[in-house]
Amino acid sequence: MLPSCEDLQLENKRVFLRVDFNVPLDKEGKISDDSRMKASLPTIKYLMQKGAKLIVASHLGRPKGQVNPKFSLLPVAEHLAKLLDREVIFPDAGLGDGLRKLASELEPNQLILLENLRFDPGEEANDVDFARKLANLCDVYINDAFGTMHRSHASTVGMLAFVQEKAAGFLVQKEVKFLSQLLNEPPRPFVAILGGAKVSDKIAVIENFLKKVDVLLIGGAMAYTFLAAQGQRVGISLVESDKFHQARKMLEKARVKGIPLVLPSDHVVAKSLDEASEKRTTLGQEITGEWMGVDIGPKTLEDFKNHLYGAKTIFWNGPVGAFEIPSFARGSVQLAKMISESNAMSVIGGGDSLAAVKVAGVADKMTHLSTGGGASLEFLEGKKLPGLVALES
Ligand code: 3PG
Repeated sequence: MLPSCEDLQLENKRVFLRVDFNVPLDKEGKISDDSRMKASLPTIKYLMQKGAKLIVASHLGRPKGQVNPKFSLLPVAEHLAKLLDREVIFPDAGLGDGLRKLASELEPNQLILLENLRFDPGEEANDVDFARKLANLCDVYINDAFGTMHRSHASTVGMLAFVQEKAAGFLVQKEVKFLSQLLNEPPRPFVAILGGAKVSDKIAVIENFLKKVDVLLIGGAMAYTFLAAQGQRVGISLVESDKFHQARKMLEKARVKGIPLVLPSDHVVAKSLDEASEKRTTLGQEITGEWMGVDIGPKTLEDFKNHLYGAKTIFWNGPVGAFEIPSFARGSVQLAKMISESNAMSVIGGGDSLAAVKVAGVADKMTHLSTGGGASLEFLEGKKLPGLVALES
């Protein structure tokens, strides 16, 4: 059972709060999507209300254990100050005595945001000394970084051995509640839609879903691997020929279990993955000549709609076309609208699917937008996430 931050006495305590503020930055270094930051505000506000002295920590990008200004959390600190409308102390020192002193002199309701944890190689290596130094900053540990729960790092696993009291923040509790419900007791029928470029990223989740769902809809480039594995012509679409065997195995498993595994019945095709490319819609499932599938076609959308109609639970991860290119985004945006029009409990995960939901203007109609990309998928594969295990033990 996951301990909750609500069960702890927090007044006057130095609380280390691990968040996932690994937000996308644009070319000028500005935050282009602050959803992950907003998702942890309820926990931050609660801890402050309870009189905690907050030491907030996150990683940003993959600086590989080197200090690199490109990955500094400074823009995040400035944005957090705006979101909270209060001062955010942003020390530039490493984990030395200076920082310990600063942490020990914090007043209730004051907040420090540490610089990028991954500037130190000890974070990703889960180094014991680094973990101990982090633990020495605090009395209580709270993890609200669901998106990082699949990483066995010093701030998600190692330091917990050196802290007496530990708990999950509200975001982590919410993610675990919805994702567990998908695996354990989804209202039925349960329809899952998986998309994205590669079958290889989704094999484990498809295998687990074939034990859980009532219908599996597959779109995106990974659908071409399934189609090609069945002998269908797919033109010059992206395929993973080394995954044909596994694709056939999954199709067979779905058939034996009587679970419809629905592949696109038509496609939007283009000459290249390029906004300016000539495009057309196929009449059927076959793609011939020098054309590649870049989006699902109108018939497929209709098929998907029929399966979504009447669903009580819908999970969607991965765009059903090359969503990042506006002229191939229609299928994903339409799909987002269809999900929002259903009466089902809807859980959406993965960066591009969340972006499609936002472009469609239906984010507030979804039951839960998961902040975890890799973490959500690993959870749904049925794996135990190290960050959660560390909190529970
Ligand atoms: C994510 O964006 O999925 C998390 O913040 C984890 O980042 P990572 O894949 O670099 O560990």
